[in-house]
Amino acid sequence: MTTTENEPGMNNDAGAASPVDPTPNPHASAEEVAAALTDTKLAQVLYHDWEAETYDEKWSISFDERCIDYARGRFDAVPAARAAAAGSSASGASAAAAGSELPYGRAMELGCGTGFFLLNLMQSGVAEKGSVTDLSPGMVKVALRNAENLGLEVDGRVADAEKIPYDDNTFDLVVGHAVLHHIPDVEQALREVLRVLKPGGRFVFAGEPSTIGDFYARWMSRATWYLTTNLTKLAPLQSWRRPQEELDESSRAAALEAVVDIHTFDPDELAGIARSAGASSVQTATEEFAAAMLGWPVRTFEAAVPPGKLGWGWAGFAFGSWKRLTWLDENVLRKVVPPKFFYNVVVSGYKPS
Ligand SMILES: C[S@@+](CC[C@H](N)C(=O)[O-])C[C@H]1O[C@@H](n2cnc3c(N)ncnc32)[C@H](O)[C@@H]1O
Repeated sequence: MTTTENEPGMNNDAGAASPVDPTPNPHASAEEVAAALTDTKLAQVLYHDWEAETYDEKWSISFDERCIDYARGRFDAVPAARAAAAGSSASGASAAAAGSELPYGRAMELGCGTGFFLLNLMQSGVAEKGSVTDLSPGMVKVALRNAENLGLEVDGRVADAEKIPYDDNTFDLVVGHAVLHHIPDVEQALREVLRVLKPGGRFVFAGEPSTIGDFYARWMSRATWYLTTNLTKLAPLQSWRRPQEELDESSRAAALEAVVDIHTFDPDELAGIARSAGASSVQTATEEFAAAMLGWPVRTFEAAVPPGKLGWGWAGFAFGSWKRLTWLDENVLRKVVPPKFFYNVVVSGYKPS
């Protein structure tokens, strides 16, 4: 059911001869990493090609009810304009309210990774047909494989968000999760999103780091990595230590993280960028405070120990704890903690009709 619509050797910059290597390159050498330190888009490709085949495991991504609910929750965090016009508040938007525009006919995901957001949204009934796009050939390959396994009607392209290889007025919906903060010129990417949307079409970008949230998340992740990789040097804990070459490869790739993570966002500023790009009915919401403080150390710990070591008991514990803290965030902390302290920013808007 899935197809790759073009050969992925395309120029990154409008008019510039900077072809992306179409072959996934999962093992960047030290020399390639050094070159990528001054070339953010090369860094994106190397870093995400390196992650692609293990990405679902690293981030506990699945295509079952757990992640379908999670993806749908992020999508519904900002109500659709029709629901908003009927009086829904951003934080209280229900799936039913957002559902007034559903299903969208043709949807596209920017920076799809392994397809976590769009494929799970399609499974929840948000869109009928999908197109997955990413700068990393490795990610597009895995996303198309996941779509095929799920039997979804999806095509895919290697694509730079600043120069989207689709015609004007093609899509009813464009989505993205954790992608805008990687794109050098966010306003240019949103202009491209509006170009490929049909008049009246909608975009929803979720999972973007807030400036304050990113600060505490990074700090907690670094501390967790340091503690785990050092404590597992002790003899009784050595079976929890990943082989040194895997840790070295992780460290090399992690050096690229500073290059690929370009932005953090203030929600109001992000809304301003979307309006400058030409979007109408722009709204933002923020999510996860206590849940993010648990989530980042947990994910870093999972990446620092051998794959498969933690098992389903751990996965159940981590997800259950995350759900309880999300409840705390939404029902208690949202009333006392300023929105800018929450980790995730969601932005949605429309192409004017
Ligand atoms: C943090 S990952 C998120 C992946 C997926 N959306 C998810 O939530 O699991 C960011 C993705 O954006 C892609 N990306 C980075 N820069 C991009 C660009 N300029 N255009 C398109 N995709 C880009 C990366 O290759 C990577 O797959």
